[in-house]
Amino acid sequence: MAVPLLDLKRQHLPISEEINRAVAKVFEHNMFILGPEVSEFESKIAEYIGVKHAIGVASGTDALLIALRALGVGEGDEVITTVFTFFATAGVISRLGAKPVFVDIDPKTFNMNAELIEKAITDKTKAIMPVHLYGQCADMDPILEIARKHNLKVVEDAAQAIGSRYRGKMAGSMGDLGCFSFFPSKNLGACGDGGMIVTDDDDLEELCRKLRVHGAKPKYHHHIVGYNSRLDTLQAAILLVKLENLDSWHEGRRKWAKRYDEMFSSDKITVPYVEDYNYHIYHQYTIRVEKRDTLFQYLKANNIGCAIHYPMPLHLQECYIKKLDYPKGSFPEAEKIAQEVISLPVFPELTAEEHREVIEAIEGFYK
Ligand SMILES: Cc1ncc(COP(=O)(O)O)c(C=O)c1O
Repeated sequence: MAVPLLDLKRQHLPISEEINRAVAKVFEHNMFILGPEVSEFESKIAEYIGVKHAIGVASGTDALLIALRALGVGEGDEVITTVFTFFATAGVISRLGAKPVFVDIDPKTFNMNAELIEKAITDKTKAIMPVHLYGQCADMDPILEIARKHNLKVVEDAAQAIGSRYRGKMAGSMGDLGCFSFFPSKNLGACGDGGMIVTDDDDLEELCRKLRVHGAKPKYHHHIVGYNSRLDTLQAAILLVKLENLDSWHEGRRKWAKRYDEMFSSDKITVPYVEDYNYHIYHQYTIRVEKRDTLFQYLKANNIGCAIHYPMPLHLQECYIKKLDYPKGSFPEAEKIAQEVISLPVFPELTAEEHREVIEAIEGFYK
């Protein structure tokens, strides 16, 4: 039996009428840019996360870019982040003319190791950018403590973690700014690109709103050079429908994750480690295995959906290897884990038969 890594058709089918109605409404009013659905969705996200402000932008990448820019990150600055994440986290730092300064990961959660941050701070450091990888929050208390001590800003890359909680606090609500992605495969996915910045700070909110419209306020009066980066009205209309289902989708993912945890028995497999104070939303269910590349080929050959998040830590990427001068071996935990991780199907609409098929295929491989 073929098992997809993700099947959005199954997510969309039960809500297709609602989505069609929401889209039709946008075609009636025709306010495709910053229409009423965008403000409504921003209010709902602010309420969901428990913050004062939410600003819809064109992607998760733009959310990070605009958030850093609003904090004044630019030429010559340094931003400390994890070496084991999707490229956008570091890419936005470089695009602002600043330097990504990497730290290695906690080998249990694969999130940024907070104990390594202080050593990475210099007089150029402006901000710390933790990533809540796979939908589990990084250890925020020590990160926020270090930031306070050294007068640094914190931007949470919560692209994979909307609705995830750390000691009861929502991902994105703990730093100066939090950033989300609505890339279609995310737990809350648009039908295209989309992103959101959240903050409690009124000045940062105003600046982010200005930056997403070419730095203008009012229209055609440009105080700063900004971007063209708005969340589309059509995407906001669809996301409003989906948001109503988000918590139950999280629970669906958590149910399959728990069953994988219970059912895997091979000693070649390490299931995800979740801190007991975290609420993991399993954007990815990522295990650690021996002979990862052979398993990957085997699963692909047997039509079992799987993916590698991520095959290469950022310091070894071609665009950084010379520029940042972190030789191989600089981040041993991340380098090791990049060879061992593999993500499995965990979407809420997965069936019990499919779930069993994934387990049997993997257990069978190791027997
Ligand atoms: C950790 C992380 N940061 C940033 C992004 C960028 O988001 P987007 O694809 O919406 O630009 C993503 C998602 O793809 C991500 O997983």
